[in-house]
Amino acid sequence: MSDAALLDRRQLLLGAGLAAAGVGAQAGVNPGSRPLALATPADQQALQHLRIAFGSCAKQSKPQPIWATVRAARPDLFLFLGDNLYADARDAATLRQRYAEFARVEALQAFRRDVPHLATWDDHDYGDDDVGAEYPHKQLSQQLFCDAWNEPADSPRRSRPGIYEAYRIERAGRSVQVLVLDLRFNRSAPVIDPTLKQGYTAMYAKAKMGLGAMKGWYVPNPDPAATLLGETQWAWLGERLAEPADVRVLVSSVQLAAEGTGWECWANFPHERQRLAALIRAKRAEGLVVVSGDMHYADLSRWEAPGCYPLWDLTASGLTEVWDIPTPNSRRVGEVFAGLNFGLLDIDFSTPVPTLHFSVRDLQGDTRLQRRLSLDQLRLPPHA
Ligand SMILES: [Fe+2]
Repeated sequence: MSDAALLDRRQLLLGAGLAAAGVGAQAGVNPGSRPLALATPADQQALQHLRIAFGSCAKQSKPQPIWATVRAARPDLFLFLGDNLYADARDAATLRQRYAEFARVEALQAFRRDVPHLATWDDHDYGDDDVGAEYPHKQLSQQLFCDAWNEPADSPRRSRPGIYEAYRIERAGRSVQVLVLDLRFNRSAPVIDPTLKQGYTAMYAKAKMGLGAMKGWYVPNPDPAATLLGETQWAWLGERLAEPADVRVLVSSVQLAAEGTGWECWANFPHERQRLAALIRAKRAEGLVVVSGDMHYADLSRWEAPGCYPLWDLTASGLTEVWDIPTPNSRRVGEVFAGLNFGLLDIDFSTPVPTLHFSVRDLQGDTRLQRRLSLDQLRLPPHA
């Protein structure tokens, strides 16, 4: 390892410590995006780039060899997109026990000590399979989450109705905003199609034999009052989207752009998804891309949101979990990758128009999906 690389490594370690200690947290109600202190790269070329890695769905009872591969990719930041452990807890004692198990996953915790990271939760680490606002232990879960992810005692994430937060990274004279959503704490009940649910086992058996597609049992909730974020989080998000930023990364624990999967996703709450596009438009929040998890495979989707620019959503799911029968998704671009994986977003500020490169890597570090975007493709129409 060169001296420059060693220096770079030391700075990365320092950055991890700062992030874990919550440096940059601001006091007060709804403060702006929290400045995130990342290590300054040692070489000139790296100063013009930012590499954000991300992934989801890590079962604490399983080996987690993928962390060595993520580490080798040398990300500036890692985003835990949810289902970071599987609590699946119907009672408080089990919830506490699962977090204790999570703390003992050495491969993951060693990675966390070395690499700056942020986290949100999905159903399994929030509480139980597919649960939302009705989960009876959500206050305890919020406390356990904030303890496990080293939130300071005065962090707003401990007192808000949910663990959402926004961060700001400065690189190459540009700013990257990371918007971490909470899609569990306030989520209304999804609508289940009983016929799909009853026929699930037969559909699975047929799909396993290659005789048809299979999807989940959720259908869109037509109730305009049904919510994913809750009003307080919507108000907060509007304020954050009004802040200037060159690039915005929206962290969504479930798929935002996908359509037709039948599993948990924004499509189950069509009014909420339309509201997001309308909010992006109203705040003129350009340069936004989405990263999501939950599905147990990797998937790239594009939503031609009305009056907006295309919303690209890269799903990276499967740090330990893999589902080998991908569901239909009419907004899919390319193929699914059903193997252990993590995602990368490489932002290149060295060109006059910055570029974003989305990719998915497997356990060996080989690239399985990729897409290059220009920031010019993430601009609002002039009169939207
Ligand atoms: Fe999930």
